[in-house]
Amino acid sequence: TATDGELEDRILAAKRTLGDRVVVLGHFYQRDEVVRHADFVGDSFQLANAALTRDRAEYIVFCGVHFMAETADILSRDDQAVVLPNLAAGCSMADMADESSVAECWEQLQELYGTAPDADGRVPVIPVTYMNSSAALKAFVGRNGGIVCTSSNAATVLEWAFARGQRVLFFPDQHLGRNTAKAMGVPLELMPLWRPRKALGGNTPAELADARVILWHGFCSVHKRFSVPQIERARAEHPDVRVIVHPECPMEVVDAADAAGSTDFIQKAVAAAHPGSTFAIGTEVNMVNRLAAQHPEHTIFCLDPVVCPCSTMYRIHPGYLAWVLEELVAGRVVNRISVAPGTAVDARTALERMLAARP
Ligand code: 13P
Ligand code: SF4
Repeated sequence: TATDGELEDRILAAKRTLGDRVVVLGHFYQRDEVVRHADFVGDSFQLANAALTRDRAEYIVFCGVHFMAETADILSRDDQAVVLPNLAAGCSMADMADESSVAECWEQLQELYGTAPDADGRVPVIPVTYMNSSAALKAFVGRNGGIVCTSSNAATVLEWAFARGQRVLFFPDQHLGRNTAKAMGVPLELMPLWRPRKALGGNTPAELADARVILWHGFCSVHKRFSVPQIERARAEHPDVRVIVHPECPMEVVDAADAAGSTDFIQKAVAAAHPGSTFAIGTEVNMVNRLAAQHPEHTIFCLDPVVCPCSTMYRIHPGYLAWVLEELVAGRVVNRISVAPGTAVDARTALERMLAARP
């Protein structure tokens, strides 16, 4: 097997040969050995924008997970190829909402609330999907008057949706939906979790009658691990600690933290702090460790004392990056992510609504 040094040399050599023909994009959760080769590193919103603007490259090699690469394909030019170095890099949360279950839910909600707008022109339900979802679901949302959000713009997007709809169906991440709507003042009792009729017996009519946000059952298995006792321990051991968590964490964790925000928000909060600050961070451990290395002036540690990696993000091993780049040098595009044109058109509508939504 190739050593880390050999892989590094192969990646550098292939990138040198390809020059401007390739751009490597990397999510903050990628391991250091991959991030080092990225031309742009960002959160999922910034990476979607990067796919729109890096239009000189023939190839976009996306070091992240499948739904991010699909989004890059939808937003990039048709003659650009998006490559995901390892096709097994998915997202378990994105997999928690599939097209047919969402269609079943949508049908039930339409049965219950009808389809006619109210006196202010607001339709009964607006579907909102988190970026962490398949292209098929982004297309579903695009076709049904809805919108995509990321963790950095969820509040703006919910405001957009409430201006056009009486209520919102939010999927797949219940925690991002609940945390964001709660911060906007929506009472918890108006945010039921949707239960499919056949499998789970459905919701009671009372639960749905006054609902403002209908939440899907999805969650992130990485962020679900963070807990209030971990925050209490961090505060006991470091009285000056600032606890910052990702909004995919459960509500009690976000409530007990000092701040919650996207991966980019977390980076910026750390960069803006006075030297000598202490941070306990509730997000993926590769990013937390890199932040700690980049900021020796602070004390930075992951809230989860064991380890909290995103195992699918970690599937982008530098060996895969070397391989796909060398194939491009040889004129072969492997692991291309290509969203079917009919799906891409509707998904792009939903993504463009997000990109245009303003606070
Ligand atoms: P960001 O949008 O904050 O980059 O988060 C993406 C993600 O998958 C978090 O788990
Ligand atoms: Fe998906 Fe969670 Fe990994 Fe983000 S951290 S890519 S939500 S599994």
